[in-house]
Amino acid sequence: MVERFLDGKGALITGGASGFGRGIAIEYAKRGADLILVDINEELLNETCKKIKEEYKQEVIPIVCDVSNSEQVQNMAKMAFKELDNIYVLNNNAGIGDLYGPDLLRIKEDMFDRIMSVNLRGQWLVSKYVCKKMKAQKFENEPLSGKVIHTASIAGVVVDLKLSAYTLSKVGVIAMVKMLAQSLAPNITVNAISPGYHVTGIYNNSEDVMKATMDDGHVKTPLNRIGTVQDVANISVFLASPLSDFITGHNIPVDGGIAEVGVPANYLKSDI
Ligand SMILES: NC(=O)c1ccc[n+]([C@@H]2O[C@H](COP(=O)([O-])OP(=O)(O)OC[C@H]3O[C@@H](n4cnc5c(N)ncnc54)[C@H](O)[C@@H]3O)[C@@H](O)[C@H]2O)c1
Repeated sequence: MVERFLDGKGALITGGASGFGRGIAIEYAKRGADLILVDINEELLNETCKKIKEEYKQEVIPIVCDVSNSEQVQNMAKMAFKELDNIYVLNNNAGIGDLYGPDLLRIKEDMFDRIMSVNLRGQWLVSKYVCKKMKAQKFENEPLSGKVIHTASIAGVVVDLKLSAYTLSKVGVIAMVKMLAQSLAPNITVNAISPGYHVTGIYNNSEDVMKATMDDGHVKTPLNRIGTVQDVANISVFLASPLSDFITGHNIPVDGGIAEVGVPANYLKSDI
């Protein structure tokens, strides 16, 4: 039996149609949250919302929005607060992968701009237009007015020159979390989760694609398995719960130990 600590609370999850976003949405729904799922992939978004709504009997509202587009994000934020009484948890999770290979000197400008605009600018825009209203919310018997959780990456912890723009975007997210944590204190906690290697849409849902990247980077995972969506959803539940009320400004790697004790995903010539 799970504790329904999100009863009466709303959660907005970007990139909610698939991967971590969908996994997190399911865990929040089990704990009583009503959901706004935001995604650019309309078909998948509607399918995910329908399934979660049917299974968990919570409100699950789809909003199609490109998080890198300011006008769309502003409309999405207005719509979200109209649809739900409150947004207690914001999961700023939408992101895209990089073309694996070109370092910063080789990456094409349009690819660089696309990654930065979705992964960094997109997460910034969503926080900018959702958090002000979150800060003003009040809950009975609840010390905080909300919780913000960004999805960063271990590429933001151990730089990966074969994922150059992606790495920069995620370093940016981790820095942004520290700044937002200051701006939103003491009302709202802001933290990041940094996944390692987990099979999701970012790897075309293919374990082979992901393992090829890991092999090329000589990645060693101390806990000796690949990550799952559930590994990340579990930490998201903790960060959305009262158990984490005194944690803000942090980045929590969920990576089987790669970033701290494994071999980083760097292609070292001396390592061949
Ligand atoms: N899978 C991993 O191993 C891994 C590792 C580290 C970090 N991450 C991060 O996890 C987050 C979620 O990705 P995932 O792995 O679940 O992949 P995913 O592709 O399954 O999910 C990402 C979702 O974001 C949506 N999206 C993409 N661009 C968007 C945009 N401009 N506006 C709105 N929605 C958009 C996609 O349609 C998709 O549904 C991303 O920020 C990613 O960088 C993933």
